[in-house]
Amino acid sequence: MTRRRTPVAVLISGRGSNLQALIDADADPAYPAKIVLVIANEPGAAGLARAAGAGIATATIDHRDFATRDEFDSALTTALAKAGVEIVCLAGFMRILGPAFTGRWADRLLNIHPSLLPAFPGLHTHARALAAGVKLHGCTVHLVRAELDDGPIIGQAAVPVLPDDDEATLAARVLAVEHRLYPRCLRLVAEGKVTVAGYRAVLPKGGTDADTFLVNPAT
Ligand code: GRF
Repeated sequence: MTRRRTPVAVLISGRGSNLQALIDADADPAYPAKIVLVIANEPGAAGLARAAGAGIATATIDHRDFATRDEFDSALTTALAKAGVEIVCLAGFMRILGPAFTGRWADRLLNIHPSLLPAFPGLHTHARALAAGVKLHGCTVHLVRAELDDGPIIGQAAVPVLPDDDEATLAARVLAVEHRLYPRCLRLVAEGKVTVAGYRAVLPKGGTDADTFLVNPAT
């Protein structure tokens, strides 16, 4: 018997390299999530072509076509409901979603952020990490709450900050582990293995590297 795969939408604004990592994971029929829709708020976002190339339905919902954030969010919800989506992954989606949307999707809405939260929420995380002189940096996949870059942490991947790093080299090192982390975290949510206790996402005990995340690759 084939296991049911949870229908997922990915929301993007740009290049879509994390989307690509999720598409690559999705190519395995045993992967528990299936991407059924990719939505971009930016017309011509490069990630749309990646989705189309993989035979995934795409939609562009341009926030500039809506008078308010709520109307934009409602249009997203309508498209997601129509496609039967059960989990939403934000992957470089550069719009803030309102509380009605984040509340509705609560523990089924994931985001990837390029820092080890709660350090460096917001933009320019790599430049800020360099300026702060941290020796470890990385990325976080978390459940989305109404506050920006906030919510129960599902997984994190850490990389070293090297003495000669600039923003570009550090961003590339982090991006490589983003691509490893996001499919693993989505897998856990799709398998129903993530429970939320207060502010914490609780993962199964006794997991292997596939279930517990401190990815710290050699450089
Ligand atoms: C990634 O660094 C992600 O962490 C952040 O935006 C960037 C998106 O890159 N939220 P891509 O579009 O997935 O290539």
